[in-house]
Amino acid sequence: MADKKARLMVDGLDEAIELPVYSGTEGPDVIDVRPLTGQGLFTYDPGFVSTAACESKITYIDGANGVLLHGGYPIEQLAEQSDYLEVCYLLLNGDLPTAEEKEKFVNTVSRHTMVHEQMSHFFNGFRRDAHPMAIMVACVGALSAFYHDSLDINDAYHREVCAYRLIAKMPTLAAMCYKYSIGQPFMYPRNELAYADNFLHMMFGTPCEEYRPNPVLAKAMDRIFLLHADHEQNASTSTVRLAGSSGANPFACIASGIAALWGPAHGGANEAVLTMLEEIGHEDNIPEFIEKAKDPNDPFRLMGFGHRVYRNFDPRAKVMKKTCDEVLTELGVADEPLLKIAKRLEQIALEDEYFVKRKLYPNVDFYSGIILKAIGIPTNMFTVIFALSRTIGWISHWSEFHSSPNKIGRPRQLYTGPSKRDIK
Ligand code: CMC
Repeated sequence: MADKKARLMVDGLDEAIELPVYSGTEGPDVIDVRPLTGQGLFTYDPGFVSTAACESKITYIDGANGVLLHGGYPIEQLAEQSDYLEVCYLLLNGDLPTAEEKEKFVNTVSRHTMVHEQMSHFFNGFRRDAHPMAIMVACVGALSAFYHDSLDINDAYHREVCAYRLIAKMPTLAAMCYKYSIGQPFMYPRNELAYADNFLHMMFGTPCEEYRPNPVLAKAMDRIFLLHADHEQNASTSTVRLAGSSGANPFACIASGIAALWGPAHGGANEAVLTMLEEIGHEDNIPEFIEKAKDPNDPFRLMGFGHRVYRNFDPRAKVMKKTCDEVLTELGVADEPLLKIAKRLEQIALEDEYFVKRKLYPNVDFYSGIILKAIGIPTNMFTVIFALSRTIGWISHWSEFHSSPNKIGRPRQLYTGPSKRDIK
C-alpha cells in the first residue's frame, strides 16, 4: 500500500528515518509515522490538525473546495434525491439501498422505535429544567442496561442490531426529554409515520389531539437530520472511536459522543447561535457584536461562523440556507425580529473584511438553528437534534472500527512538568 516514502532527518541521528507514505482514493497523502517510536520519537499535533487517526471508507471532506461525500455521493445530491434513512443505510452499508432494501431497512428501524417502559422512570429523577443533553447522555448510556442481547462487539449481527436500535430510539428519547420539560405525557412512536414525521408527532402531539405535521416542516426536519448525519473524524466521532477502542459497549460509546458534541465549538453551536441572536436583541446592536468578535483580546466568537475543515464554504450550509428560506416563507415568519437579526448578521459578516479574509462563512448550524426556532423547537433541544442525526455517523464509524483489525487508542504527550525529584 505504501507507494511513496518520506525521509526525516533528525539532529543527533546518523541516518534519515524512512517513513512509508500512503495514498487514499481522495485527499492528501498520509505519512506513516509509526517507525518514529522505534527511534524514541513522537509526533506533536495538538488539536489533531494534521493527523489522520484512522483509515475510513465512509465520508470524505475536501474543506478547501467545500466538498462533502458520503460513500462517494455529494451531499447536495443526497439532500435533493434521497432521505435521511437512505443516507443511514448508505453510511452503514457503503451504498444506497435498492427499493427492496430500503423497504426492509425502514421496516426494521420503525419496529425498534419504542424504548423499554422502565426508561420513562429515569426521567423522574431529573429536574424539569434539566438540560436535555444531560438527560440524553444519561439515557443513551443507560440503554446498555436494557439490551444485553446485542452487546457482543465482536459479533457483526449484534453490531447491526445496536445500530437499528440507536437510530430508532434516539427520536423517541429526544422527544421524551422535551415532553418531560413541559410536563406533558410522553407520546409513543407511531410506526406508520415517516422518520421525521414521527419525531414531530412525538414532540408536538398530545393524547388529546392528533398532530398532523406540515409537509414543508417535516421535509425540513428530515433534511436537518440528513445534513448532520456524518462528518468524518470530528471531535465527537473521534471520541466514539476512542471510547470504542477500549471495547466499551456501543451505547456507552454513543453517550461519550453525545457528551463531546455538547460543547459550543461543536454541536452546541446551533443553540449558541440562538442565544447569541437573543443577546444581540436588535439590529442596531449588531456592529457592537461584530467588533467584539474581531477583538483578539475578547474571547467572544460569532457563533455559527467558521469551521475547522471548511475554509471556503460549508456545502451543508448552502443546502440548509435554501431550506431555511422555504421554511420561513411557509410559516410567514421571515420578519420575526430574531430572524431579521440573523439575516442582517449573515449579510454583514459576509461583507466584513475580517470574516472574508479568514474565510469565516456561516456554517450548517447557523441556518439549522434558525429553522429549528421557526419550527417551534426550543433552543435547548437543538443540540439534541444534532445528536439524534449524528448517531448514525457515530455508530457507522464505531462499526467500521470493529470490523477491521484495531488497537486501543492511546495518544502520547510532550511532557513539560518537573523532572524526577525526591521529596525532601
Ligand atoms: N468569530 C470570530 N472569529 C473567528 C471565528 C468566529 N466564529 N471563528 C474563527 N475565528 C478567527 C479566529 O479568532 C482566528 O483569528 P486569528 O487568525 O486572527 O487568530 C481565525 O479566525 C482562525 O480561527 P481558528 O481558531 O484557528 O479556527 P479553528 O479551526 O480552530 O476553529 C471553529 C473552528 C468552528 C471552532 C471556530 O470557527 C468557532 O469557534 N466557530 C464558532 C462556533 C461554531 O459555529 N461551531 C460550529 C462548527 S460547525 C458544526 C460542527 O461541525 O460541529
